[in-house]
Amino acid sequence: MNTANHDMPEKTGLPFFGGEDVKDPFPLFARLRGMGPVIPVPNPLGERGQAWIVTRMEEAMQVLRDHARFTVDPSAIPGMSDIRPQTDSTAPQTFFTGKSMLFVDEPDHKRLRALVSKAFTPRYMESLRPRVQEIADELLDRVQAQGSMDIVKDYAYPLPIHVISEMLGVPREDREQIRIWSGAIARGLGFGKQDPEVAEHLKAFGHYTSQLVAAKRKSPSDDLISQLIAIEEEGDRLSEEELISMVTLLIFAGHETTSNLIATGTFLLLSHPEQWNKLKADLGLVPSAVEELLRFHGPATATGPRFATEDIEFAGQQIKRGDVVIPLVKSANRDELQFNQPEELEITRNIKRHLAFGHGVHMCLGAPLARVEGDIAFTTLLKRIPHLRLSLPVEDISWETTLSSQSLKSLPVSF
Ligand code: HEM
Repeated sequence: MNTANHDMPEKTGLPFFGGEDVKDPFPLFARLRGMGPVIPVPNPLGERGQAWIVTRMEEAMQVLRDHARFTVDPSAIPGMSDIRPQTDSTAPQTFFTGKSMLFVDEPDHKRLRALVSKAFTPRYMESLRPRVQEIADELLDRVQAQGSMDIVKDYAYPLPIHVISEMLGVPREDREQIRIWSGAIARGLGFGKQDPEVAEHLKAFGHYTSQLVAAKRKSPSDDLISQLIAIEEEGDRLSEEELISMVTLLIFAGHETTSNLIATGTFLLLSHPEQWNKLKADLGLVPSAVEELLRFHGPATATGPRFATEDIEFAGQQIKRGDVVIPLVKSANRDELQFNQPEELEITRNIKRHLAFGHGVHMCLGAPLARVEGDIAFTTLLKRIPHLRLSLPVEDISWETTLSSQSLKSLPVSF
């Protein structure tokens, strides 16, 4: 089947540019899967070629594995060099404007990722458990006597930002400012959208990071930023621009998404009380519950966009060089061809694979960290506050949706 532009549905209803409160996007994703594994959608980049979304797991994995034909870096494709937000040339480059591992192909990708991959191995992450546990306990100590809290503000947000900040050596007093920048950047991340506000936040975040790096250059410590500075000073493995891009990427990617896993996961468990009770009765199920929560409603709606490097016939569609291809991982994770009753949340499900962390060479570097944090966050809540309940009816809980993520604005609970 070739669904050329003229057959394109006028409106898919996909929330491309963000900010909307879309409470339940899954019926839409099911309809899109019904239309095919790869379907044309209005191009958020305007006139520059066609955009396609990939709705099913097998095809999404093929795109994410095939980095020669589906690149993360369109700069070599004529007319595509300016699609990411630009900041002026005097501003330090961030992960989004500069050269970070997320947006480069091999061999640069491999070189950049290898510099930090040791700090994110499952084994090293296990060694962080006691400290993550302490942070989770401290956060609950603060609210336990109150009888109520906002899971987002009091627990899900602070936990991952404290952990990644301690790993990197970001001072405690700067974390609130980082929250503001990161939130604004995440909300504005509709690619192709040149939002001046996002550019301003990226610029401020870049300046901040470059000052932090300068301070650590003068007085190094045993944190990851100091280790990266030492690598940069050693020779030709890491440039200054790449260093700043790397640090901003690790700060940004290291907390927003994991906060969403903890907040959305808590919401899902409380709104499916039979699952919460099952988990409470057997805390050994927490790791499998984390995988199911990631599959069922993981933080990332889509991976970053890929761009066709040549004309390709793929899943019956004629994709042209420069077309944008977006693997919709939230839809792929509900693929009827992969899962029994995919629209059911079942924490005892034995999941062979899901795409919540992506796939292929860009698969999430921080997945082992996110898993440890998720495990500790849910186990600690279940142990310490087993009678947790939602303070609002499910339909009154508000969400913020962008193409790349969906998050809860707040989650009031009582106990
Ligand atoms: C990449 C999701 C937590 C760092 C990715 C990708 C996804 C993802 C889908 C692939 C993007 C693409 O292919 O375009 C998540 C989710 C998380 C999470 C759902 C939490 C539940 C973290 C944490 C870190 C992190 C804690 C810690 C620093 C990264 C980095 C990349 C990445 C550096 C780029 C990897 C590369 O390009 O090789 N993440 N992430 N993530 N993530 Fe995560």
